[in-house]
Amino acid sequence: MLNFEYQNPTRVIFGKDETKRVGKECKKYGEKILFIYGQGSIKKTGLYDKILSLLKEEGLLVYELGGVKPNPLISKVREGVEICKQENIDLVLAVGGGSVLDTGKIVALGAKYDGDPWDFFTGKAEPKEKLPLACVLTLAATGSEMNRNAVISNEETQEKLAVKHPVLFPDFSILDPVNTLTVPREHTVYGIVDIIAHVFEQYFHPVPETPLQDRFAEGIMLTLIENTHRVLKKLDDYDARANIMWCSTLALNHLIEAGACGDFATHQIEHELSALYDIPHGAGLAILFPQWMKYVIDVIPEKFAQFAERVWGISREGKDVKEVALAGIERTKQWFSEIGAPVSLKEVGIGRENLERMAEHATRLGPLGYTKKLYKQDVLNILE
Ligand code: NZQ
Ligand code: ZN
Repeated sequence: MLNFEYQNPTRVIFGKDETKRVGKECKKYGEKILFIYGQGSIKKTGLYDKILSLLKEEGLLVYELGGVKPNPLISKVREGVEICKQENIDLVLAVGGGSVLDTGKIVALGAKYDGDPWDFFTGKAEPKEKLPLACVLTLAATGSEMNRNAVISNEETQEKLAVKHPVLFPDFSILDPVNTLTVPREHTVYGIVDIIAHVFEQYFHPVPETPLQDRFAEGIMLTLIENTHRVLKKLDDYDARANIMWCSTLALNHLIEAGACGDFATHQIEHELSALYDIPHGAGLAILFPQWMKYVIDVIPEKFAQFAERVWGISREGKDVKEVALAGIERTKQWFSEIGAPVSLKEVGIGRENLERMAEHATRLGPLGYTKKLYKQDVLNILE
């Protein structure tokens, strides 16, 4: 196991109907709230009206920033920063999926910075402080609700980049599974792929002697797979949604990575896809992950065999390690297909035309990954 330091300051309020606490909890941070949301799902589900009335009941002054799109844009972040500065906002409240939460994080950060918020993505500025940030999660996927990451796209440069910094942990997040009962089938599936992909990123590493981390990861994967079958049979199954929601948070709140090492090359390659083609993040991951696994299998064949055996129940009898490992990867790809995720670029209408450009951009600052360092040609091989 590697040495590590672990701290997670986000307060999690989890459970059925805990949304009712939003007004009182927000009031602890001040009077002026910037309420950020997406492209309308919360208006259809009634959550918008509910949140607004809970905030108003507490006498809070509410400003709004709606219309955050999936693969959220820096132009929307800039609008939010403007409001925070002009109105002296006390707390940013992000209500939605990862796109809204990530927008909230960078709005809160940009509000305390004199320059352009894109500077945090180019490395021109280092995060130092942000406004308090509260989240109400409506889609289980990214783990943004309890992590230090934010991913934003720049429509002018066609880049999608991440900032990772402890300042970005939300101050508190309300995880009320009821708010996820309305997520449509396709986004439920993309979210599930994202969750398992986060576990893969932190499980397929070459660090020896990480049995607890491995079993945490396997526990999340097994729970997720079981509950995927439940939720796809009945999209409003509360218990399945609750289990998936907690899986999503634990998959990327840095806990399972402690003492091990995250790879995240596949995520960086995926961000190239969704930057250029605006496809859902989970769709890109379902296409790429089985390919990455096959590409790096020889670095950690035993780990892949362990995964095949413990997660998919594949027997080792009569097979060598690599056969078992490959069977696990094939099963993963088949499962993605079964639950309705795409497993080839062709399925999402992407041809060969930009593969080289994406490989070049992904590796512009150096090779990707930890398990196997990926140079431009490796990324191109995976994409091809
Ligand atoms: O925009 P609205 O109307 O809210 O609709 C959204 C959107 O169309 C809809 N939705 C969300 N909750 C719903 C709902 N529809 C009905 N009922 C509900 N309860 O779902 C669609 C997708 O939403 P989005 O927020 O884009 O999805 P997700 O949570 O998967 O976030 C994806 C973004 O997060 C980034 C991705 O790259 C992508 O930009 N990531 C962020 C990470 C982080 N901060 O740690 C890590 C991830 O690896 C990822 O890169
Ligand atoms: Zn992800």
